[in-house]
Amino acid sequence: MKTDKKMGRDVIEEYLTKANDLPTGSLSIAPSAAPDGIAIPASRNTAFYTAHSYHTKVPPEAIIPFIEHFTMPGDLVLDLFCGSGMTGVAAAMTGRQAILNDLSPAAVHLAWNHTQVCNPNELSDTFKSIEREVGAEITKLYSTSDSTDGEGIIFWTMWSTMHICPECKSEFSLWSAIDKNSGRMGSEIDCPHCKKSLKRRGLTTMGSVPAWISYKTKNGVRRERAANDSDIAKAKAFKRSDIREWYPSVPLGPDREMYIRCALHLKGINEVADFYTPRNLHALAIIWAAIEKINAPRLRAVMRFAFTNTAWHGTKMRRFNARGGQRPLTGTLYIPQLSSEVNVLEVMRNKIAQLKRYYSSYRPLLKTSPSIINSSATELKDVRDESVDYVFTDPPFGSNLFYADCNLIWESWLGKLTDSTNEAVINSSLSEKDGGKTLANYEELMTQSLKQIARVLKPGGWATIVFHNTDGDVWAALHSAAINAGFEFHEASSLDRKQQSHKGYKGRSGEEDVAHFDVVMNLRKPSADAVSTTGDISYSQAGSDLRAMVNAAKLDPSTIARGAQGVHAEIVRRLVSKGEAVFFDFADVRKILEEN
Ligand SMILES: C[S@@+](CC[C@H](N)C(=O)[O-])C[C@H]1O[C@@H](n2cnc3c(N)ncnc32)[C@H](O)[C@@H]1O
Repeated sequence: MKTDKKMGRDVIEEYLTKANDLPTGSLSIAPSAAPDGIAIPASRNTAFYTAHSYHTKVPPEAIIPFIEHFTMPGDLVLDLFCGSGMTGVAAAMTGRQAILNDLSPAAVHLAWNHTQVCNPNELSDTFKSIEREVGAEITKLYSTSDSTDGEGIIFWTMWSTMHICPECKSEFSLWSAIDKNSGRMGSEIDCPHCKKSLKRRGLTTMGSVPAWISYKTKNGVRRERAANDSDIAKAKAFKRSDIREWYPSVPLGPDREMYIRCALHLKGINEVADFYTPRNLHALAIIWAAIEKINAPRLRAVMRFAFTNTAWHGTKMRRFNARGGQRPLTGTLYIPQLSSEVNVLEVMRNKIAQLKRYYSSYRPLLKTSPSIINSSATELKDVRDESVDYVFTDPPFGSNLFYADCNLIWESWLGKLTDSTNEAVINSSLSEKDGGKTLANYEELMTQSLKQIARVLKPGGWATIVFHNTDGDVWAALHSAAINAGFEFHEASSLDRKQQSHKGYKGRSGEEDVAHFDVVMNLRKPSADAVSTTGDISYSQAGSDLRAMVNAAKLDPSTIARGAQGVHAEIVRRLVSKGEAVFFDFADVRKILEEN
């Protein structure tokens, strides 16, 4: 069979709403004030939150109070940086119309599937028919056997990097140098041969080998053991050239920020297919081919939805964790030294069960589903002037997350990549001529986006913007973008996002200065006769005031209980609420806290 290994069919087209079919709001009278500046707890273990992974998510439960405060049933809510579409879910469940927009085709795929109803029984019946068609072939790929248990099916194979000891020159696997009881890896390990202490980071890597497997015996008992010779030989024998089905072949190189940051040149990554072992690539290609044969459009789309989450777990990015909970880190393309090659059919089966729960609890109140568009928030040309009642959005935070890069694996399977020309981001590893963007570029893109919000909102309409960043300059850039777009600032709130992106995760353990609490800004488009309440307010004696603010925050037990990041978020929230134009870095707040 001749196969085109490049991009597949663009499946995104099926999700998009035409310009003429976009809804208009009821343009009801907007409330005169923002809600109180309370911290809104954001849960992360609900069916809504876990249906499909995305690098940052605001759960619908945290969005609903804003929608209910600022709109009436039937009103139109817009999210122009919609990501996985949680604003659409919140709008649909409260009887509001919605328009969801994102630059990323992967986000469009998630937003559409999250907001379209699906019959849970038809969903599981469709998956069963896929399993009937390809289950036996895939199960063979993951078979194992040993003298104690006989035949079994592998759940996952942990691959460990191999290294050469700089002291005794012997080869060893990282796994052989780790304390198996705790499963923990320190920054230093002892060479299993000469016992010399070695820095883990500086070790030269000589490829990876299967080291440990988890499997199910014929009697259904789950076991773990060292990969035996036949497991190792089998895992290494798979070849990409044997795969007959289509899989994406999209190049990936140093023109992408995440390629540089994750040092992917050291991991042998030149294209998207390199994120997979040949065995997992083969299994995924078989499943994708079966999905593409499904005739019913909704069921085909929902299988692709389950597939993209599976295809993310099926990469070498899936971190081995001896204590369970193995998954790739969100918001990065990081490939760990101990990587878990998971049985992708097993992952997909679990995903289908989760999606069944999701679609059983997703009950939109309106017949029409949210409309989806795939454009830059800086242009938004299909949305009519003054047609939107309320905007809730969570724009990119500057330099922490690179969505076009992180969504690349999903988008390669879906057949359409993000055009990152207008991606609102600061990527400093690249020069401007190679697609790098400075803080000034970011501010300009955010200004254009906020101007679009001002254009499409009804006069007097509100926009709620969720934002977090530890860098005072990025806050100032967003602030001046909002002022340039003509918005008034009102009482802000804060949000504990809880789901840790890779960056948030590091921030928590104090390795890197990254915010954990978001600030929720409430902006208002002045009605024709109103005068902006904010403007060029300068902030005098910034340094001493920051100290005073930190001291004030320390008197509030609920703020101090949220740690240094909570104090920073609270200070930003106060500044935003007052319409101040100067912001502080997280590092300065932490320094003052540490001094006292
Ligand atoms: C913080 S995420 C939104 C996450 C979302 N709240 C959720 O719950 O999934 C920001 C989104 O902005 C998108 N984005 C970046 N630049 C954009 C632009 N110029 N226009 C539209 N979307 C953009 C990214 O693709 C990303 O999905």
